[in-house]
Amino acid sequence: MTAAYEIVSPPTGAVPARARLATDAGVESLDGLWRFAWSPTADTGRQPGDPGVDWDEIPVPGHWQLYGYGAPAYTNVRFPFPIDPPRVPEANPTGEYRRIVRRPQDWDGGRVLLRFDGVDSWFEVWVNGVSVGTSSGSRLTVEFDVTGALTGGDDVLAVRVHQWSFGSYVEDQDQWWLSGIFRSVALLHRPEGGIDDVRVVAGYDHVEGTGTLTVEATSSRPVRWELSSPLNEVQPWSAESPRLYQLLVSTDAETVSLDVGFRTVGVEDGRLLLNGAPLVFRGVNRHDFDPECGRAVSREVMERDVALMKQHHINAVRTSHYPPDPYFLELCDRYGLYVIEECDLETHGFSLAGWRGNPSDDPAWAGVYLDRMRRMVERDKNAPSVVIWSLGNEAGWGRNLAANARWTAERDPDRPVHYEGDAECESVDVYSRMYVDYDELAAIGRGEEPPLADPDRDRRRRGLPMIMCEYGHAMGNGPGGLADYEAVIDAHPRLAGGFVWEWIDHGLGPERRYGGDFGETVHDGSFVIDGLVRPDRTPSPGLAEFAAVIAPVRLRLDGGELVVENRWSFTSTGKVVFAWSTETDGMVVDEGVLDVPTVAPLSWRRVPLPLAAGAGLTVTATVEGNALSCAQRPAPASPVAPGPLTPARPATLGPFPIAALTLDAWRAPTDNDHASLEERWRTAGLHQLVERTVEERPDGEWWRRRVHYGSPGLDSGFEVEYRWAAAGDALRLEVDIDRRGEWRLPLPRLGVALALRTPEPGSVWLEWLGLGPGESYPDSRAAVRHGRYGMTVREAQTPYVVPQENGNRSAVSRLTLSNPEGDLTIEGDQPFELAVRPWSTAQLEKARHAHELTEGDLLWVHLAAGVTGLGSASCGPAVRPSAEYRAARARLGFTITSV
Ligand code: GAL
Repeated sequence: MTAAYEIVSPPTGAVPARARLATDAGVESLDGLWRFAWSPTADTGRQPGDPGVDWDEIPVPGHWQLYGYGAPAYTNVRFPFPIDPPRVPEANPTGEYRRIVRRPQDWDGGRVLLRFDGVDSWFEVWVNGVSVGTSSGSRLTVEFDVTGALTGGDDVLAVRVHQWSFGSYVEDQDQWWLSGIFRSVALLHRPEGGIDDVRVVAGYDHVEGTGTLTVEATSSRPVRWELSSPLNEVQPWSAESPRLYQLLVSTDAETVSLDVGFRTVGVEDGRLLLNGAPLVFRGVNRHDFDPECGRAVSREVMERDVALMKQHHINAVRTSHYPPDPYFLELCDRYGLYVIEECDLETHGFSLAGWRGNPSDDPAWAGVYLDRMRRMVERDKNAPSVVIWSLGNEAGWGRNLAANARWTAERDPDRPVHYEGDAECESVDVYSRMYVDYDELAAIGRGEEPPLADPDRDRRRRGLPMIMCEYGHAMGNGPGGLADYEAVIDAHPRLAGGFVWEWIDHGLGPERRYGGDFGETVHDGSFVIDGLVRPDRTPSPGLAEFAAVIAPVRLRLDGGELVVENRWSFTSTGKVVFAWSTETDGMVVDEGVLDVPTVAPLSWRRVPLPLAAGAGLTVTATVEGNALSCAQRPAPASPVAPGPLTPARPATLGPFPIAALTLDAWRAPTDNDHASLEERWRTAGLHQLVERTVEERPDGEWWRRRVHYGSPGLDSGFEVEYRWAAAGDALRLEVDIDRRGEWRLPLPRLGVALALRTPEPGSVWLEWLGLGPGESYPDSRAAVRHGRYGMTVREAQTPYVVPQENGNRSAVSRLTLSNPEGDLTIEGDQPFELAVRPWSTAQLEKARHAHELTEGDLLWVHLAAGVTGLGSASCGPAVRPSAEYRAARARLGFTITSV
């Protein structure tokens, strides 16, 4: 038996796709509580004419799984059902939605349309029991003409939504499977003689300095239009200056208004350009996501995303992997974000079956493919922010995608077409890759990528600009290595930047659940927790790092000069404030504002620094209160000179009894470690070192303890000598660590862990002099600066959704720990790496969700000579050799005082 939702077909009964227009014609929102009944199979036993008066209620927009019907499930590539297109399992959860609608009395004549902006995944609509149409394309708008179906009185609107359909085979994006009417629904009045569609092409001729405009309107009556400025006076639109002009298009029956931005996107000499200047994406991939509401995102959530992106210097968004809620594009137009808008098409799961039966190359699916592309392009064709159309994501390659590219190029010759899966760039205008490593990126930048078999194709691809549609996988702690990517992008004009994967962690509910947490048997665990912001949109250290790396203004201290680099394409540094301060011991002693002559877009300048050397120097660049960049020269360290030494064997340090002092060569593996170094670390037994004291005795000035640390089953290990001495009121601790045996591997860290007993270790106040305030690692330290910082130990933890190594502070020269009983200060002979935690590494490693971590009565102080960086191996390159810690021996020396 074939069900309607298993018939591969574009929507039935729908009107042609058209632009989203602000209008003075009637619009009535149907959002709110609807009647709802859920059934685990498609056969619900409910009649479309049944108004459902005594059913449950559910909010529209919303996903039924988040209101107690069925359950969310997360898979990345795998389909959670057998690959048997276009068939779906009998267990096909289905939601019946009902509400009463009434055609407003003042909607005279004309037509009435019923608009759905997002329904997952297939649905049929009835009015008073009479079918109006069917649709799929979960993240695409569809409109039905319901003029004849509405009576003018109370009419029963019925929508039956099936979770699975033929459409599910082309919606295999890496995200939660969530169903229902999850975007707005509205009734629209289309007055007789109104304007059904408008297409605006607004370019900018940067040579003449003038706007160009074409307006095409669809109406049965004469149309006039009016722009809020003469064309020769308009300023161009860009993400840096998103200037918009109001265009009113009217007939005597309707006026629609559009916010027009004048900009020209193009590819010239192998470079991507906007208004004649290089267009370099410093972007992110963004899914519609909210931890409570899934893909039903509120306007506030979208506004928050855009504000956070702008604050963090992000200039571009790829709407992975489907058209976003239309309001999101309005925000991108208004606040300035370049958008690669992606079609709702992904068939990744077919890759696990050798791409057999991939709809992308099956003529039976051609109509469905074209319909999806058309619905995206027609809806959003007037958005100035949309600079590139993307055919979809990870859908293999085939004739249907090639046809979509052709149709798009014809319909909208003014925007380049993107699709990463078109590896030979047969049909696209930009060469796109994901997770390419540094060397290959540089080779592509130089135009030296390995040739394609077909010389013509090779020549064409080599002439195209290249973008990384995904890079910098932000899963867990990371990504490390962003600065290295930026350096490669900077060095090669062919490289038009990229989009970090991804914006937000998709953790659901207050527990931040991920794959498997809803009892799914087929799932991909925490691979969906890979964002630059946490589910509640708290920025992660990765976002701070990204912001620092892509800063539009960069500062560097070079001898007695400041180098100011302006990386904006259109904006001078006229509004940037350059401030300086000098510091001693992390405290500002003097400060002022630097007089820096204006630096033009895409250029740089050297400015003499009228400041004396000696103290630490900090220069910052700020625009309208938003920090852009910082350059520092820390003060030379003033080494502590301890007094005469006598052997000591302390049992307490200030107010803290010592519970343990041990070698520390392990960390709770990060998601990136899981995919790279962790296995080697475990094979070497770094997580289970066995301790044997070789000797312990007073010896001259010191109390010496020599310890051997070895791994079960191996003859490799560490020889460590701890030396304690009293030096007046202070204590000295010195540690020599020597690697023995065959080990050549980089170590997660190398140093000591000191366990101190204290009630409520999370409330201990931690103060340090070093890099901060955020965490840092060797390949992620663009965002931190040298200073004196203070916070509780609890605040010094980064609560990654999946607990893992975090909270490292680098280049620390001194720390103070305070509990109500007193203070303890530890000062290093050399700068060291520091992590202070209210739990042990073993506890951190064991917990699978942040809320599983509980404090005991031990404070763990990790003092290391070095740590290994982060990389982004969870999907991308591992830690680069320059960020690996490989030293064969380490010496740490500390002077410890207490009050
Ligand atoms: C890409 C894919 C994304 C996401 C990412 C890994 O291949 O396009 O949707 O799955 O990998 O997180």
